[in-house]
Amino acid sequence: MKKVGLVGWRGMVGSVLMNRMVEEQDFDLIEPVFFTTSQAGKAAPNFGKDAGVLLDATDIEELKKMDVVITCQGGDYTKAVYPKLRQAGWNGYWIDAASSLRMDDEALIILDPVNQGVIKDGISKGVKTFVGGNCTVSLMMMGLGGLFENKAIDWISSMTYQAASGGGAKHMRELLSGMGVLNQSVASELADPASAILEIDRKVTAKLNDADFPSENFIVPLAGSLIPWIDSDLGNGQSREEWKGAAETNKILGHSGIQIPVEGICVRIGTMRCHSQAFTIKLNNDIPLDEISDMLASHNQWAKVVPNDKESTINQLTPAKVTGTLDVPVGRLRKLAMGDDYLSAFSVGDQLLWGAAEPLRRMLRILLE
Ligand code: HSE
Repeated sequence: MKKVGLVGWRGMVGSVLMNRMVEEQDFDLIEPVFFTTSQAGKAAPNFGKDAGVLLDATDIEELKKMDVVITCQGGDYTKAVYPKLRQAGWNGYWIDAASSLRMDDEALIILDPVNQGVIKDGISKGVKTFVGGNCTVSLMMMGLGGLFENKAIDWISSMTYQAASGGGAKHMRELLSGMGVLNQSVASELADPASAILEIDRKVTAKLNDADFPSENFIVPLAGSLIPWIDSDLGNGQSREEWKGAAETNKILGHSGIQIPVEGICVRIGTMRCHSQAFTIKLNNDIPLDEISDMLASHNQWAKVVPNDKESTINQLTPAKVTGTLDVPVGRLRKLAMGDDYLSAFSVGDQLLWGAAEPLRRMLRILLE
């Protein structure tokens, strides 16, 4: 059995990964070794298999004994440990949720329902470093996989509605705290159906602009607002999250350079863990809508085409419906007034599953085949 070192298994993405590994009985197929950055020597968790004690996640000698390391510990850990481990001659498989190695030439971005061919080709050529993609990019590609596979796309504009979980666990708590603060600020007025809505609105707006409003993590209020900037400022008017759209999409597809431009504006909104995206897609020919639906639905078992009517859309194409599932519904499919080769689409997906944990455990399965 392969020795698989698990790092960062206790955090939010790591916990989702452990749950999925238990559900899919991945632990039956491996010898798990749990690493820690703070509790070496304590008992390891038992996910259906005794794993002894926790080992120090910075101990290169212990890490070197692993056939595979899977880390959800974050980019700082990767930057500190990965180069030392490789320099020490370790030739095992490194599977990483963090973005730091994503664009390195020696690494592949993993999303096997979309790029299994690229992954398998990489393994046969000796690639040993595999990194999960940006959540927005991965969810876009899961939903629109059929169009990518059929090489039907000239370019995509993606306007995103990204959940608090993309920032981390503290960000999710801050969102909920902010919602609570807003609610409490007008609790008595809400209890009175006769109270004036504009007075409620005035109080809520004042609270949102209060210096004490919960905003330590997002810097500005998210509850009751939105933030049209995610990740760092590249200095050219583009956010790093927006830059990733084209860079990662094309790398996932194994393209050299940007063959399919992906552009848009990435926006943080007040949902918990589902990222949604509105797409304008320039097709390279006038494909009929029923063929587009077939391409999308048949590409992978998780992409679900939602009929473009009000009832189906409001019931099936929302974070409330999709959270906690692997489904990536795609709806609002319509040819646009700009021409028959312009398509609109809207997708929703759980960013902690396909956007983070799921590609990692599936990569492990590929290595175990
Ligand atoms: N960068 C993403 C976000 C999360 O902030 O929503 C991880 O890919």
